[in-house]
Amino acid sequence: MTNIADEIKSRCNIVDVIGRQVTLKKAGAHYKGLCPFHGEKTPSFTVSEDKQRFTCYGCGASGDVINFVQRMQNLSFLEAAEKLAEEYGIEWKRDVFDNETKRSAYYEINREAATFFYRAFRSGRNPALAYMAGRGISDAVLKKFGVGYADGEWDSLYKHFTDKGIEEKLLLELGLISSSKGRCYDKYRNRVMFPIINTRGKIIGFGGRVLDDAAPKYLNSSDSRVFKKKDNLYALNVTRQEIAKEDCAILCEGYMDVISLYRHGVRNVTASLGTALTAEQASMLKRYTENAVIAYDSDQAGRAAAERGMDILRNAGCKVRVLRMAGAKDPDEYVKAYGREAFLELVARAPSLTDYKLSAARESCDLSTTEGSLAFLKRAAAVLRDLSPVEAEVYIRKLADEARVSEGAIRREMLGEGARGRAPERAAPAARRAGGAEEAAGASMLERNFIRLMLLNGAYVDRIKPYEKAFSTPAAFRIYSLIKALCADDGEVDMRKLEDALDGPDRALLLDICDKVRLADKDEAVFAECVDALRLSALTDREREIIRMLTVANDDENKERVEALTRELINIQRGIKEVKGR
Ligand code: UTP
Ligand code: MN
Repeated sequence: MTNIADEIKSRCNIVDVIGRQVTLKKAGAHYKGLCPFHGEKTPSFTVSEDKQRFTCYGCGASGDVINFVQRMQNLSFLEAAEKLAEEYGIEWKRDVFDNETKRSAYYEINREAATFFYRAFRSGRNPALAYMAGRGISDAVLKKFGVGYADGEWDSLYKHFTDKGIEEKLLLELGLISSSKGRCYDKYRNRVMFPIINTRGKIIGFGGRVLDDAAPKYLNSSDSRVFKKKDNLYALNVTRQEIAKEDCAILCEGYMDVISLYRHGVRNVTASLGTALTAEQASMLKRYTENAVIAYDSDQAGRAAAERGMDILRNAGCKVRVLRMAGAKDPDEYVKAYGREAFLELVARAPSLTDYKLSAARESCDLSTTEGSLAFLKRAAAVLRDLSPVEAEVYIRKLADEARVSEGAIRREMLGEGARGRAPERAAPAARRAGGAEEAAGASMLERNFIRLMLLNGAYVDRIKPYEKAFSTPAAFRIYSLIKALCADDGEVDMRKLEDALDGPDRALLLDICDKVRLADKDEAVFAECVDALRLSALTDREREIIRMLTVANDDENKERVEALTRELINIQRGIKEVKGR
C-alpha cells in the first residue's frame, strides 16, 4: 500500500490537484488561497509545492494530496487514492515502483546533465546556438524549453560526473553514457539537447538532434526508472495550462514542431515524440482537454501514425480532429512558411475524425465505377459502425445522397459482415448510464421506460419532452416522435394507430417494450428514477467540464470567474451526492 500511495504522491502535483478547486496564488515559497474546509475571507490556507502538503492556519486542516481529495470529496483514504490514481493514469500495482527517495537520485543526475548542456549552449559561440537561431527560434523560447548543447568530445559529460563522484552505473541506467568494451563514452555528442520534463518539473529524459545530417537524426533516452516513454508527452510541463485554457491540444510528432509552433504563439501544443501514440499518453492528455487535433507530418508515415493515433485518442474519450496540411512537411515548416494565422485556420478547419476517415475512404475509391462505389460504401459503413446511432444517422443521410444509394443499403451494410465482433454500441452516455441491461434492439432501459410511461398515460409525453435528448437510439427516437405526433391530436396515445404507423425493427421494439417493460403501479417512481439518472449524468458531465476549466485559472483576471466556477462546482457536487443518496 505504501508504494502506491508514494507513487500517487510523486505523480500528482498537489498544487495542480488543489489548484483545480481552490484559487491559489504564489506567495514566497508557498501558494495561498481561501480554505475550502472552513468559511474565510482572508486566505490562511497554504500549499507547499516542495513538501507536497497543505496546511490551513485557520482551521488546522493539513495533509498530503490524498488527504486533500479525501476531505474535499468525503472519501476514505483508499477511495481518494484510487480516484487520483485513475485520474492520473497510475497503474494500481503493488511493489512495481520504487519510492520517490530512490528516484530522486536519478532526477538529480538528469537535472545536473541538463544544466551542463544548458551552460554549454549558453557559453559563447557554439554550433547548436547558431543552428537553433538559424531555425528561427527566439532566445526566450529556447530558454523556456531548456534547450542545451552536447559538444563533440567523447567524454565531456562523463568527466563532469565522475569528477563529482557519481557512479557510472547510474549514468548508464539513465542512458547519458554508453559503454563499449569496458570503456564509457558520452551518448550525446555534437547535438542540440532537448530535455524531456514531466508535469512535476522533473527532468526525466533527453532528445538530442544532430547538427549535420548524420544518422540517427534524433537520439532519445531509452526507458529508465524515471522515464517511461509510453507515459509521457513532450512539453506538457510548459504547455498544459494553455491546453486546458484553450480546451484543445494540438498533437505533433516532434520536438521542433512543438517549439516552433510555440515560438509562433501557438501554445496549446504537445508531441508524442515519433513513437506511436499510446493509450497512456491519450489519457494523460485527456486530463487537460477532451479535444485533440492531430497535426502529424504530411508524409505517408505521418498519415499512418495519425490513423492509429486517432482511434487511440477516441478510445480514451477524446473528440478528435485531424489536420490536413498541404505545402509543408510538418507543422514547423508550415507555420514558418505561412505564419500563425494560416496555421490556426488549418486547425479551425481540421475535419472531425469521421469526416477525415470518410474522405480518406472516398479518395481511395473510384466513385465513377460501380465497384468503386461499392468499395466506398463498405469502407464508409465500417467507419459509421464506430459511431453512436444518432451520430450515424446524420452521416447515413449525407452518404446516401452522395453515393446515390438508399439509406437502407447503408444500414444493411453497417449491420452486415464485419459488424460481427463490433465494439459494444456507443449510445449517448445518458442512456447508457441509466440503462442497465440493453436489449438486442439497441434501446436503453431508460428509453424503454420512457416509452412505456408515455403509452401508459399521455400526460407523460409532456413531462418527458424536456428530456427528449435521452432518445439516442434511432428506433426509440422514431417511436417517441410518433407518440408525440399522435398525442398532439387527442392527448392519449392510440396503440393501434401507433402500431400501424411503425414497421420493421421499430415495430418489433415497440411490441417488445409493451411485452417486457412492467411498471406495475410504480410509474411515478420509475419516472423519477429515469429523471435522476439523466440529471446525474448531466451533473457529472458539467462537473468534469468545470474541473477542467479550473485547472487553468489561477491568475487575477480570472478571479471572479474562478469563484463562480468553484461555487458552481460545490453546488454540483452537492447535487450529485443528493441524487446518489436517493
Ligand atoms: P522528424 O524526422 O519528422 O523530425 O521526426 P522533425 O521533428 O521534423 O525534426 P527536424 O525538423 O528535422 O529537426 C519526428 C520525431 O520523431 C522522432 C523525434 O521525436 C522527432 O522529433 N525521431 C525522429 C526519432 O526519435 N529519431 C529519429 O531518428 C528521427
Ligand atoms: Mn521538421
